[in-house]
Amino acid sequence: MDTTYLRAVMAQWASGVVVVTTTRDGGGRHGMTASSFTSVALDPPLVSVCLATASSTCRFVRHSGVFAVNVLGHDHEDIGRRFATSTAGDDRFTAGRWDTATTGAAVLTDAVAWVDCVVAACHPAGDHTIVLGLVQDAATPRPAPPLIYHDRTYYEGIAR
Ligand SMILES: Cc1cc2nc3c(=O)[nH]c(=O)nc-3n(C[C@H](O)[C@H](O)[C@H](O)COP(=O)(O)O)c2cc1C
Repeated sequence: MDTTYLRAVMAQWASGVVVVTTTRDGGGRHGMTASSFTSVALDPPLVSVCLATASSTCRFVRHSGVFAVNVLGHDHEDIGRRFATSTAGDDRFTAGRWDTATTGAAVLTDAVAWVDCVVAACHPAGDHTIVLGLVQDAATPRPAPPLIYHDRTYYEGIAR
């Protein structure tokens, strides 16, 4: 299967947008934009994200054993872009206002929702790692339409 073609096909899948955050070795925080977030189970409460194994976020999540998933709102496109840009580096968290959750991972004060997790398992999957998280805490800080991603374009939420 041609990778470029498959990428274009998979781009037709619409999703929400999250920022996965974690703590860095030796202190500090890190995070990346992701669309691979899924609710896996309620008992016990498990969620998953698929992270490129070569990404810094994946490495820090594996080392720290913790991560949070922040569901972005319709007006968070700037945050989605910033946390997907490799050159932004440490400046990523200058977009948005952040608190620290129980595990130490950063949570967006005006996220539509967030879940704070400890890593329950990491499964290799090609060039990605499926990270399963056991939810420690969760919140819905702001009832607002979510940011949507489809065909490499951000959309400001769902028409109701
Ligand atoms: C809308 C969107 C969704 C993304 N979803 C994922 C994802 O689910 N998993 C992933 O590994 N990268 C995903 N990315 C790419 C990462 O955000 C990007 O590679 C980031 O720079 C990685 O940062 P890091 O290397 O500092 O960890 C996505 C990018 C965008 C714009």
